[in-house]
Amino acid sequence: METSPAADRLTSRFIAGHTLAREIAVCQRLNRDAYLASLDHLGESVTSLEEAERSRDDYLSALDRIAELGLKATVSVKLTQLGLDFSEPECEQNMERLVARAAEIGTAVEVDMEASPYVDRTLNLVSHLHARYGHVRAVIQAYLYRSHSDIERLCREQIPVRLCKGAYKEPSDLAFPRKRDVDRNYVVLMKTLLANGTHPAIASHDGKIVRQAIAIAKEQELGPDRFEFQMLYGIRRDLQRQLVADGYQLRLYVPYGDAWYPYFMRRLAERPANVIFLMRNLLKT
Ligand code: FDA
Repeated sequence: METSPAADRLTSRFIAGHTLAREIAVCQRLNRDAYLASLDHLGESVTSLEEAERSRDDYLSALDRIAELGLKATVSVKLTQLGLDFSEPECEQNMERLVARAAEIGTAVEVDMEASPYVDRTLNLVSHLHARYGHVRAVIQAYLYRSHSDIERLCREQIPVRLCKGAYKEPSDLAFPRKRDVDRNYVVLMKTLLANGTHPAIASHDGKIVRQAIAIAKEQELGPDRFEFQMLYGIRRDLQRQLVADGYQLRLYVPYGDAWYPYFMRRLAERPANVIFLMRNLLKT
């Protein structure tokens, strides 16, 4: 299903294409239009260490293309894609190769945050790599109760953070079950991050949150070069255009590759109206 031609019609709104060449073409276009990018080679939860090594090599190729073309782009990776479920030391070695290469070419590796059992291991690895190379960004999910203390730690260590709401199904003893509490916590964390963080990334399509971020940044005299917004490719394109027109830095997270199914299903779950939109697209000839 993941590689069928019908799937392309279904996914093209959210996913750049199957190949690195397609991804690079999309990122070049985005850069020309003043967007920053983050390349995400789809494929979490690999099934062997060999597959993890292939993922690492795919990311190394992406970093090579970023360097060759001088793209304004980072890469976003998931630790399960680099073998975390099989061997922590090997995952660490794979990550180290990527971060070292990113440092060499002057970009960064953004380490996506997965479900709660991975949070400690992910933050510890990011912290270790940041101390050694810099050039790495952590992700914090506002739905987790623990996130305030994690943000304080990352600010102390001067590790850049991407703040998002959180996309996985979590139990109520670990995460706020109600959306309005997640939204409220997001704003609390965002204030801490904008006050104390190193080049924070506000990752949300929520217009209210975006407006609040702009107001806080103005209050704190934080220029648009000191933080960035991040959004997913294909989502809230109206708001994306507006931010760029207003002179804010906006990085689009652009997925590519064959293994689109889990990413795609998370996007559908976030907004059931997407299903209608996609069905309409699929029925078009
Ligand atoms: P919210 O869900 O409240 O949506 C606000 C508005 O945005 C909606 O009303 C709608 O208009 C629009 N919108 C949101 N999602 C949409 C969708 N799928 N389709 C169409 N419209 C939509 N999560 C995680 O757990 N780990 C991670 O590493 C990351 N990384 C990440 C990077 C970047 C750049 C972004 C933007 C997001 C993530 N996320 C993530 C996902 C994040 O946790 C969250 O699930 C989504 O961003 C949706 O939350 P919003 O903040 O957009 O708000």
